[in-house]
Amino acid sequence: MWNDTVNLFYYVLLFAIYCFLGWLLEVIYRSITQRTFVNPGFLFGPFIPIYGLGAFMVIVLQHIFQGWHFVPRFFVFGLAVIIMEYMAGFLSEKIFKLKLWDYSESRFNLQGHVCLHFSMIWTLLALIFVTFIHPEVLRQVALLNDVFTKTAAIVFMVYFWIDYTFSVMSLTAFRKAVAYIYEEYFNLSSVEIEDILKTFQRLREAFPDLNKYVNQNINRRIKSRLDSFLRPIYEKIVLEMEGRRPFEEEYYETIADILQHEEFLKLKDYFHHNSSIYHHVHDVAYLSYRISKYLKLDYRSTARGALLHDFFLYDWRNHDVPDLPRRKFHGLEHPAIAAANAKKHFSINDMEEDIIKKHMWPLTFIPPKYKESYIVSFADKYLSSKEFINEYKKRINRYREKKAHKRKKTNLRGD
Ligand SMILES: [Fe+2]
Ligand SMILES: [Fe+2]
Repeated sequence: MWNDTVNLFYYVLLFAIYCFLGWLLEVIYRSITQRTFVNPGFLFGPFIPIYGLGAFMVIVLQHIFQGWHFVPRFFVFGLAVIIMEYMAGFLSEKIFKLKLWDYSESRFNLQGHVCLHFSMIWTLLALIFVTFIHPEVLRQVALLNDVFTKTAAIVFMVYFWIDYTFSVMSLTAFRKAVAYIYEEYFNLSSVEIEDILKTFQRLREAFPDLNKYVNQNINRRIKSRLDSFLRPIYEKIVLEMEGRRPFEEEYYETIADILQHEEFLKLKDYFHHNSSIYHHVHDVAYLSYRISKYLKLDYRSTARGALLHDFFLYDWRNHDVPDLPRRKFHGLEHPAIAAANAKKHFSINDMEEDIIKKHMWPLTFIPPKYKESYIVSFADKYLSSKEFINEYKKRINRYREKKAHKRKKTNLRGD
């Protein structure tokens, strides 16, 4: 009887050691990649249970497939590792309604829970573990006396349940806080949202993908709510504007200082979508102005913010200035550049700054704070897609004309 219980405690101790080694591995990896000390895993203490469970699974597999060649063993281990990580990701998403890790941007991933690249690394680590680490740990643990093993295992079990209970409570509280933010987003200030999220700083550092998941959900909710509300208004106003140029004096008065500024006039020199940035921002500003006025919002700030939303003076497709964003990063970085330029040459208020900085939302994760910013962001997308389509049509027509011209020439020669 004594021996059986000692055996059980012995396994508990092994589990504790492997949870701790897993934690250590993650600390090293994460602290290096995130360039700051990170306490990984959802427990507060230095243990990650999935590593303990994984270690036991690998030990059992090694026992069964001991005599097998390395290659088939690699595949068996790989499959087991994939199933285990997938189940852990799937279950944590089902239970906590949160995605603790997300590989959806990696190639060959399965619903973001597993990806080929990391599964191969885990498999290799599993093989290294059973071949070198586990035998050595067994040797060391065998040297411990039974009383010590029993005491250490009991202390660990008590500690583990306490930590586990508090950690699950913390994760549940986080999920509730996130649900609250989803619902009350428009009634909360940025500071209030930041304060709520700050309470869960450790969890967000331990699972960086959690931020992305939360942001994406907030964005998706807001976007679908706004889409159904704004689209009919856009269509009505665009129809009204069809074929007409801006005529309101008030509109011109609001933006007069910007329109005359020599730095702003330089936007005429930069090609954008199908004309110049100057023409694009003008169209976005006028459409946004009309919609803001229709909705009885701050249409002056809307017009000014919209006019300055793409105030960047470089050709994003083609430039060789090292400090400016290249093609790929332009979408993410130009709002901040435009805001800096706007601040440098004009005095802009909070709303105008928000309009400029958030006009690429939801590409830039933090959602706008003002209704006016959403209007500009939608107007920009609405008109940009129209401009792209027009430019595309123009190019196709040009290509067709060229082809027809060529055909005519060869026909003439043939005659
Ligand atoms: Fe833009
Ligand atoms: Fe734009």
